[in-house]
Amino acid sequence: MIPSGTIEKMLSKVRDLPPLPSVVLQVNRALKESSVSIDEIGGIIEKDASLTVKLLKIANSSYYGLSYNVDTVTRAVSVLGFDTVRNIAVTLSMGKVFSRIPEDLLDVGRLWNHSLGCAIAAKILVGKKEKILREEAFICGIVHDIGQVVIAQNLPEAQRKIRKRMASESSVSLSAAEIDELGFTHAEVGAYLADKWHFPTKYAEAIRFHHNPCDAATGDSSACDKRLVAAVFAGNMVAKHSGIGFGIGEASEQIPDDVWGCFGRTSDDLDTIVEETHQDFNEVVAGWGMGG
Ligand SMILES: [Fe+2]
Ligand SMILES: [Fe+2]
Repeated sequence: MIPSGTIEKMLSKVRDLPPLPSVVLQVNRALKESSVSIDEIGGIIEKDASLTVKLLKIANSSYYGLSYNVDTVTRAVSVLGFDTVRNIAVTLSMGKVFSRIPEDLLDVGRLWNHSLGCAIAAKILVGKKEKILREEAFICGIVHDIGQVVIAQNLPEAQRKIRKRMASESSVSLSAAEIDELGFTHAEVGAYLADKWHFPTKYAEAIRFHHNPCDAATGDSSACDKRLVAAVFAGNMVAKHSGIGFGIGEASEQIPDDVWGCFGRTSDDLDTIVEETHQDFNEVVAGWGMGG
């Protein structure tokens, strides 16, 4: 147990916080301004040649189903929207962040696939009508477990103890093991980092509550979007049910009826959503080159 281990204290000592490329930070900062233009966002991204090439390839992939060719970043932003373009840029960047972890501390391939599965499932769950919420849910899904990466990188001894306990006590949850060992959870670390990376506060809150959405429901945080919290929580569950990244055997927790209800769905929809998640996951892995 780290005695006075606040997240801020721990992370202030850490030099090795996962960096987001400056281009994504600039996009995040620019999107905080209500008056940002398509040309401005396009201009920021175009400064990064390799990101530009990958982004155009993905914009033209079958996942987005566009009927014509998108050949400039500005065009991609105007056709796909700010949030989708940010999602692609962040997804590409996060793949690199995940690949920096020593394998004995964290199975980074599985965690990455799980995160991508969570993002895809959360987006499907929200549905096609809510274009903004579904893109927000996707990005929060990609980032939701980044706190696990930070802990593994920076507190390897604590991480080993947490893993050992998880392996020997099947009834203990990851969050409970983290609290006992560290005094905080990977969800709290992820929320802290999302804030540092200049994501909107509601994203940080959705990450904070991805294992305990009821706490968000009872809190008075006006920055918290409860449907976004519900989407990320359920996306995490669906990814586990789908056996993407982590096994189906780990999916014993159920999605409560009120969470399904947030999206006009019931638990009867689970099988269909799992099937769609598998389809989209395979498409993204093949078309984006994103598998873990
Ligand atoms: Fe988590
Ligand atoms: Fe997760």
